[in-house]
Amino acid sequence: MSSVGIDQISFYTSNYFLDLRTLAQLQSTDPEKFYQGIGQEKMGMAAHDEDIVTMAANAAYPLVQNGEGEQISTVLFATETGIDQSKAAGVYVHRLLGLSNNCRVVELKQACYSATAAVQMACALVARQPGKKVLVVASDVARYDLNTPGEATQGCGAVAMMVTAQPRILSIDPEVGSYTEDVMDFWRPNYRKTALVDGKYSTKIYLKALKKSWEHFRESSSLSFNDFSHFCYHLPFSRMAQKAHQHLARVNKSELTAAELEQQIADTLSYNRIIGNSYTASMYIGLSSLLENCGNNLAGKRIGFFSYGSGCVAEFFSGTVVEGYQDVLFQAQHQAMLDKRQEVSYDEYLNLYEAPDPKDGETHTIEADTQGRFRLAAISHHKREYVVI
Ligand code: HMG
Repeated sequence: MSSVGIDQISFYTSNYFLDLRTLAQLQSTDPEKFYQGIGQEKMGMAAHDEDIVTMAANAAYPLVQNGEGEQISTVLFATETGIDQSKAAGVYVHRLLGLSNNCRVVELKQACYSATAAVQMACALVARQPGKKVLVVASDVARYDLNTPGEATQGCGAVAMMVTAQPRILSIDPEVGSYTEDVMDFWRPNYRKTALVDGKYSTKIYLKALKKSWEHFRESSSLSFNDFSHFCYHLPFSRMAQKAHQHLARVNKSELTAAELEQQIADTLSYNRIIGNSYTASMYIGLSSLLENCGNNLAGKRIGFFSYGSGCVAEFFSGTVVEGYQDVLFQAQHQAMLDKRQEVSYDEYLNLYEAPDPKDGETHTIEADTQGRFRLAAISHHKREYVVI
């Protein structure tokens, strides 16, 4: 069977960010607790006219802008911060991108893991119809209650990946290691806008799920720890990946030095440090970060992936970077987007924290603010109105 995997990858994050030094000052906390302790510097804050739909459309636009959307058979939209209990957010994205009416759309949920479920399902669909493409989008706005330990780990972002046969970026191996256990480490009941979390417990379950997924992966794959040049972990905050990688190295009795282990993940963390947790999107923004920031040619290198979604479902899988991958990256666009972001004050942050959510059926127009191509222009008669700028 020909190889299947990621042919293109692009991400988007909001124009605004709060520097965690500002949060530290307000909370009379040492900023190094955030900068070093959890390894985060900034967190992305969506403008009022941005949400998971506009971010996803912005992430996916470069992949379809030259009419490349015609062969897309399916859009899989992964999110855990959905905007509707019934309608898939991807249906709005489908219209904003001008995709074919013969393209199916569905939304997937299992905390941060669902983007990986989407990627695996996309690979299976493409294997069945190798001439078709599947667009996977993952988009989230991570929100915790104010003045809680989780607050510093907020963020927002979306990633879009075109899954095809003969991919130009990453060929994904069929073997996976999965782990599911019913735990309450992080959850968000339907009546809440912010997540509830048992923070320290969640980090322990994450590490347990990593070991179990790895062990299951090894049952079907001949690959060992030393076969991987780099590892992409789910990134709730960048220190979590460092702890996870040290844990996996210990499980494998690796003889690599601390510096060599750090080198295997360091480039995956750069974007997360300044965007924050983007839930479903975060591991794949980590992949973008690796591909775009690693000084060495990664062609032919094997990458290990650990995807974790609280609750919990986790998966370890692997892929090989394709020769010439550099030619299809959107590195310059991503860098330009990140460079022009604007810092907000604490009061502006509090204002952005409250996303518009009118519960009456009146018409609420939303002021134009986003720097992106798509915006949420109004909520009227309980309907969200999205426009192309
Ligand atoms: P906390 O209680 O504020 O922090 O919460 P802490 O006291 O544990 O400190 C954090 C680290 O900073 C510690 O390092 C301190 O020593 C260090 P560690 O012992 O862990 O190595 N520290 C300092 N370092 C330098 N200078 C200083 C200083 N002070 C302290 N002055 C916690 C931390 C992660 C629990 C919190 O942020 C939280 O609840 N976050 C949300 C939950 C989360 O992200 N969990 C991760 C695993 S679950 C997951 O990944 C899934 C998720 O993405 C959701 C989904 O799947 O949908 C969350």
